Amino acid sequence: MQDLVARRRALLGPNVSTFYDEPVHIVRGEGVWLWDADGRKYLDCYNNVPHVGHCNPRVVEAICKQASTLNTHTRYLHEGILNYVERLTATFDDPLKTAILTCTGSEANDIALRMAEAMTGKRGIIATDATYHGNTTLVSHLSKSNVPEVGFGLDQYLRHVEAPDSLRISDPDGQHFAAKVQEAIDDLEQSGIGFAALIVCPLFLNEGFPTQKEGWLKPAAEAARRAGGLVICDEVQSGFGRCGTHFWAHQKQGVIPDIVTMGKPMGNGHPVAGLVTSAEIMARFRKSFRYFNTFGGNPVSCAAAMAVLEELQEKQLQDHARKMGLLAYDRLMELAAKYPVIGDVRQSGMVFGAEFVLDHDSKEPAVSFTDRVVNKMRHRGFILSKLGRHKNTLKIRPPMPFAEEHLDLLITALDEVIGEAVKSI
Ligand SMILES: Cc1ncc(COP(=O)(O)O)c(C=O)c1O
Repeated sequence: MQDLVARRRALLGPNVSTFYDEPVHIVRGEGVWLWDADGRKYLDCYNNVPHVGHCNPRVVEAICKQASTLNTHTRYLHEGILNYVERLTATFDDPLKTAILTCTGSEANDIALRMAEAMTGKRGIIATDATYHGNTTLVSHLSKSNVPEVGFGLDQYLRHVEAPDSLRISDPDGQHFAAKVQEAIDDLEQSGIGFAALIVCPLFLNEGFPTQKEGWLKPAAEAARRAGGLVICDEVQSGFGRCGTHFWAHQKQGVIPDIVTMGKPMGNGHPVAGLVTSAEIMARFRKSFRYFNTFGGNPVSCAAAMAVLEELQEKQLQDHARKMGLLAYDRLMELAAKYPVIGDVRQSGMVFGAEFVLDHDSKEPAVSFTDRVVNKMRHRGFILSKLGRHKNTLKIRPPMPFAEEHLDLLITALDEVIGEAVKSI
């Protein structure tokens, strides 16, 4: 392992992160299980990219079949992309019926922001102050935690609003958040930059997935629309049935965005991403920019993405996620009753977690405690992580086939690990 770490540093450069104090060297995956180079088995409670399970046979077969027939780009006619976009857009409400396919979520967000500029003639973008939307020059500015030292001065177009936090900020109806968005809109307009778009993950997953009732995002979306801007929902993490109650998390939030971006789970690990928008926005963008992406929407990517949709629908994985989320919530609440260090429990279908605090009154984040739990779980054979502004919330976001028997294993291990870790708080 030391050799691999040294080779990485020499070949990939410094500051290339790995998970855990002791990195994991994974060599094989199947369903919700991973194996390391020593043959040790891990329960994957973290990875949302292998959405329908690691090495899902239907997806693997679809990729192999198409790769052994043809793979080119979208400047030739091919049914694959059309059949896929038809099936994909059938999961959206009107008027979201046209798509661009890319290779990464970052590219999709980058296009979405340019669509907002094309539609409004303005450049001001609003995001939360604890988010991540990707790594292009423009999109990287959306992440306050990772503001680059180089970036062509594009940060002047960004305004960050305080991320929602259901444990610390009382905002039951989303009015407080909407007021912050309005302040940022006013500031952009006064500065002469003007307001083009609000971009958010509808579950605020990177922010720590605060508990919100259905429709919570509506007031902020209304503020954006009143000001003539676009609403962009980044569903790179939250989409494709993960939230359980709906196929897309914006539907849970009672909002029909102008643009929805997607990626990670879309091809089950094959690099396919994209966005869906209205015919009007698409036409305006296509007129203002002749967009082409060499790999985006190629026949192999579309075959992989189609197989993911088929698998989700045939195995009813969205409803499975809904049921598992409720079950996970109950089981985590049992742990919360036992361990005061759990300050809050969250779930939104197949994404759930617990926020650790040092004190229920001050709600001081138990940051190093969370880190210890994550690392101890890794040593016990459970892959999970942490997120949120303070990185003190467990990030449990497994492949969708994660079932009750896996939850039992996870909760038993968490119970023991938290019990051990609280002794040295
Ligand atoms: C919400 C969100 N949007 C966009 C991205 C960027 O996607 P990609 O890494 O495919 O460019 C990420 C990646 O972590 C993400 O979490």
